[in-house]
Amino acid sequence: MLVLDFGAQYAQLIARRVRECRVYSELIPYDTPVADIAAAKPAGLILSGGPRSVNEPGAPSLDPAIFALGVPILGICYGLQVIAKLRGGRVAREELAEYGGTAVQVLEPGALLAGLPTEMSCWMSHGDSVVDIPEGFCVTARSPGLPVAAMEDREAKLYGVQFHPEVRHTVFGQDILKNFLYKVCDLAPTWTTVSIIEEAMERIQAQVGKDRVVCGLSGGVDSAVAALLTYRAVGDQLTCIFVDHGFMRKNEGEQVENTFRRHFHVPLVHVRAQERFLAKLAGVTEPEQKRKLIGEEFIRTFEEESHKLGKAAFLVQGTLYPDVIESGTRDAAKIKSHHNVGGLPEDIDFDLVEPLRMLFKDEVRVVGEELGLPEDMVWRQPFPGPGLAIRIIGEVTEERLRILREADAVLLEEIKQAGYYREVWQSFAVLPAIRSVGVMGDERTYAYPIVVRAVTSDDAMTADWARLPYELLERISNRIINEVPGVNRVVFDISSKPPSTIEWE
Ligand code: XMP
Repeated sequence: MLVLDFGAQYAQLIARRVRECRVYSELIPYDTPVADIAAAKPAGLILSGGPRSVNEPGAPSLDPAIFALGVPILGICYGLQVIAKLRGGRVAREELAEYGGTAVQVLEPGALLAGLPTEMSCWMSHGDSVVDIPEGFCVTARSPGLPVAAMEDREAKLYGVQFHPEVRHTVFGQDILKNFLYKVCDLAPTWTTVSIIEEAMERIQAQVGKDRVVCGLSGGVDSAVAALLTYRAVGDQLTCIFVDHGFMRKNEGEQVENTFRRHFHVPLVHVRAQERFLAKLAGVTEPEQKRKLIGEEFIRTFEEESHKLGKAAFLVQGTLYPDVIESGTRDAAKIKSHHNVGGLPEDIDFDLVEPLRMLFKDEVRVVGEELGLPEDMVWRQPFPGPGLAIRIIGEVTEERLRILREADAVLLEEIKQAGYYREVWQSFAVLPAIRSVGVMGDERTYAYPIVVRAVTSDDAMTADWARLPYELLERISNRIINEVPGVNRVVFDISSKPPSTIEWE
């Protein structure tokens, strides 16, 4: 299934929902040449919504030659309006723009709405709507403010809905997509975890042949799944390199070692490089400089280790589909130098193996589970490449690392215990560069505070502070102050992103 992106906020979500129906889908720009679309031999096309009006001059549209392909097309919101306009119907800005859950009445089920209730709550978000349907179409649903909530021309295999079946608020949205995929496009639900793994293995084998491959492990789920898939495909041709810069969370390094070397028997070089990184960071307090130094040292260490292994032709990367979709189109201002750790030098002489290139994060997790990765690793919260070093404000020293690592471990233990680990996007401790006065057992103390940061988010672009229960915060605070020497105070960060960021540096 190809999803043509007209710039909707929800375009990626459509591709994900289709995959949840076990049908492989890809997102492509709306102006992809028809010849390229034909060459991909899609079973169907879905046109996404978009922010423009089809009546504006220069608004995104389709090459009408697309209709000659004879492939079923489902237009969603703007996509429906594009179909209506190109086929001779009329789209106008109505008085009553609808937004939110709306009761949609099915007039005639047709193929798209077959088997669904005659009235259902659907999510609307539009200004324009179809006022005259094109010839050959019939209206299959309406809403209080909308004469055409859904329409179809079965002969021409053209379908459209004004509402958004891809959002959860449209209660029967997934059923509508299934009708389109299974009944209209005659597809079967064959895109399963097992088929994802088999296809990935075949592709890796074809690409790599008998050559040698290296893979950098970070402790995160993406590199772990990419490495395991590659190991399944080419066995001992793969060597994993885990550059442990010493800024990992408690026990994380051992877990990588235990999982990969002991459990899966993947050839692994575990580089314990904490001294080297600490030496580089001595006296450094400026956040960007820290990031830059760690990033450079990381690449240098990785290169040295991979040279020791002899010549490898391929390097495994855990690139995900959202990065592929967004690379090039995203032009945001640089807030922090992300992706510097594990990032590649420009003059790299490896070819890349990217087994997760076409997968969304939730699919990577399911594949990880299927491959037998420990739950702990599969569901790990995101962790920045430079690790704890950018959660220690000011100079990074062995002693300050110890304090932060212990405090962070207590915090995570309590968060997990209370059932919040998967509920929040990230939860962690930060060590500021200040000290304050306290009293412990009649003694005056002058020690560090720990900042507790816990946020909810969908994609880390925006975030809100997690409303953790007071009792949980109280337990975290008591335990950290009692169990971590050098800490006499715990504070909770209640800032959202923007204007703050998730990490402190
Ligand atoms: P900020 O602090 O910018 O972070 O709100 C957004 C997300 O990115 C993670 N992060 C990083 N991830 N390398 C990474 O791979 C990095 O250098 C890095 N810095 C921040 C951060 O944890 C959050 O999830």
